[in-house]
Amino acid sequence: MSMHVDVFESRGAAERAVAAEIAALVRRRPDAVLGLATGNTPTGVYAELVRLHREDGLDLSRVRTFNLDEYCGIAPRDPRTFRAWMEQVFFGPAGIALANTHFPDGVEHGRALHLEELPRHVEAFERAIQAVGGIDLQLLGIGRNGHVGFNEPGSTRASRTRRVELHAWTREDAAKSFGGLEHVPTHAITMGVATILEARALRVLAFGAAKRALVARTLASEPDPAWPASYLRAHADARLVVDRDASV
Ligand code: GLP
Repeated sequence: MSMHVDVFESRGAAERAVAAEIAALVRRRPDAVLGLATGNTPTGVYAELVRLHREDGLDLSRVRTFNLDEYCGIAPRDPRTFRAWMEQVFFGPAGIALANTHFPDGVEHGRALHLEELPRHVEAFERAIQAVGGIDLQLLGIGRNGHVGFNEPGSTRASRTRRVELHAWTREDAAKSFGGLEHVPTHAITMGVATILEARALRVLAFGAAKRALVARTLASEPDPAWPASYLRAHADARLVVDRDASV
């Protein structure tokens, strides 16, 4: 149950290594299925993949992607959605076909679904992952309260993709990008813990001194709903990728 930890001298070196692994996967299998995360942590991996696309001919046009999560209650085309961010930072510059990208966003044909329509939507998201043969490699970060995706404390090992209420700290951490806490959505839809654990490989990134305590607790904790990142340790091919500042 111990998780491999890869410690790199710098954040940049860690990002290049993870991007190189993804690039190798895509060169081997051009229609690879990538599980993607948002937040500050994975930005350098996306930037490096864009560089490989531009300077090294890495063809990402056939990859299929599934993002971990999306906020509820903001308009489908709002620039603050994770989808808009991913399109701007990664999908567009990397030449990823938008038709091959998936979000558990509660949006179908440009329309935000009603609450009672969400169970059907999240089941379809899970089925879409199954239909492409599962996720080859899932990128993850760790939230201040140990969340993965938006699986907040209290999430079970068996949880699937679903609508969740956001934890107070999660909303605080998002306040800046929403221009104030009162504008941060109260709910989101997240890939479940069980869904995440079905990916063939998990790469959990943590950079900077602020993440060190989170890394320590993730490595020390038995599988515990109070610290959802602890569930990842049970995965056969999970690696925690850290820089010196985040290493314990
Ligand atoms: C967000 C995302 C998570 C992310 C985490 C850490 O709320 N839903 O997927 O891993 O918070 O964010 P950051 O990488 O900015 O520290």
